[in-house]
Amino acid sequence: MTTVQDLRRKIDDRTAVAAVVGLGYVGLPLAMELCEAGYRVIGYDVSERVCALLMRGESHIQDIPAAQVATHVRSGKFLATTDAARLGEADTVSIAVPTPLAKTRDPDMSYVVSASDTVAAHAHAGMLIVLESTTYPGTTRELLQPRLEARGLTVGADVFLAFSPERVDPGNPVYHTKNTPKVVGGVTAACTEVATAFYRSTIDTVVPVSSPEAAELVKLLENTFRSVNIGLVNEMAIVCDRLGVDIWEVIDAAATKPFGFMKFTPGPGIGGTASRSTRIIWLGRCGRSTTRRDSSTSPARSIPRCRTSLSRRSRGP
Ligand SMILES: NC(=O)c1ccc[n+]([C@@H]2O[C@H](COP(=O)([O-])OP(=O)(O)OC[C@H]3O[C@@H](n4cnc5c(N)ncnc54)[C@H](O)[C@@H]3O)[C@@H](O)[C@H]2O)c1
Repeated sequence: MTTVQDLRRKIDDRTAVAAVVGLGYVGLPLAMELCEAGYRVIGYDVSERVCALLMRGESHIQDIPAAQVATHVRSGKFLATTDAARLGEADTVSIAVPTPLAKTRDPDMSYVVSASDTVAAHAHAGMLIVLESTTYPGTTRELLQPRLEARGLTVGADVFLAFSPERVDPGNPVYHTKNTPKVVGGVTAACTEVATAFYRSTIDTVVPVSSPEAAELVKLLENTFRSVNIGLVNEMAIVCDRLGVDIWEVIDAAATKPFGFMKFTPGPGIGGTASRSTRIIWLGRCGRSTTRRDSSTSPARSIPRCRTSLSRRSRGP
């Protein structure tokens, strides 16, 4: 049996052990879905506090009920640990560590670098490794692949490496980890095949793409689309305010167009760590900004206008 066939068999019969590195907004919901799909899951986090809390059957993530964590801890399906050596037991590793902004406003890759070092130190033949953190195109191949190869593991033959962007939307009552389609791009065709099979066992729809770079750019396109449109609608709110027109009336009327328009509403900022990092990732990679002002992240400018618009709206037409 080849390495690919062996891993696929373990995925199919759920004897694969799944690890999740980073048990935050992204990692904990994924870990819970993997438990629900029938895997034994090792959650590795550097935070003693987070691991202790989870092992007590509590939850620090609003979308994950404590009862769900407690059930999987009690049954032995879920372990939260700060012991990196436990990653050696895993057949699959999904990395969901933060990519915040550094003081210099560059993407702070130190968490991804540190997690990559840890995973590489415990990697073994037959392991699937997937990076999920929002990042610049090229990260999977530039940061993870050399670390695995330094251990003598050939990507695509001994180990399988892919990028799969996380799309979690905390607090969304409709879309959660299981029913949000997941894009997967592997370093080789075998990597994409194994990563697709793994996520298909847990998530309703998986969308394979041809490379990790394509998958990395999917996330940046999605976040850029969101930032640009929030910036646009915040500018429209300012224009409407100056003209004495109700922005909500304009948005609601525009949203009746059945094609070529997607409704965005004014707000104090774009929200979400992934979105905030995106503009900086672009600047870091492209070296310059295309806008002089960032309307999408300007609470000082947009909050007073939103307040006015909302109070107008609550008064009715
Ligand atoms: N939160 C969102 O809405 C959202 C949405 C889409 C994408 N993302 C992206 O997903 C990634 C994870 O974000 P998050 O919101 O889950 O972060 P988070 O801060 O909620 O959780 C990250 C966890 O990783 C742990 N951690 C940090 N370094 C570690 C290491 N070296 N090894 C193991 N654990 C480590 C932290 O202790 C923390 O518990 C980021 O790249 C983010 O941009 C987040």
